Amino acid sequence: MTAALRQALTDVGHPSELVHEEAFSAAQVDMSRLPEGPFSVSFLRSGKVIPWTREKGSILEMAEAAGIMITNGCRAGQCESCEIRVLSGECTHRIDVNHPGGETCLACQAIPTTDLIIDS
Ligand code: FES
Repeated sequence: MTAALRQALTDVGHPSELVHEEAFSAAQVDMSRLPEGPFSVSFLRSGKVIPWTREKGSILEMAEAAGIMITNGCRAGQCESCEIRVLSGECTHRIDVNHPGGETCLACQAIPTTDLIIDS
């Protein structure tokens, strides 16, 4: 897409030296370094309890597979729109994220490290 946009701008006479590009992608995850589970994840508001294992991916991916909606955006740990409150237990993020942790986590990158109760 950026190549097509660059060409279109050139075609209309925009100086090519004024066109700058940036590309973003999600960090690669070394799955072998993640806990295997199983851990129980309780979604308090939806009333569902789901066993998490490494193959289920992030809490967001697991929730979506179970029909639980969690607001999200970038799915790369950057926008924080998927922030969820952890009521009990602990989680970690699959990649380095700029998030203080504590009582919340970013569902798109979070995985449990203990049984969890989350406010979703
Ligand atoms: S969806 Fe953007 S940080 Fe999770």
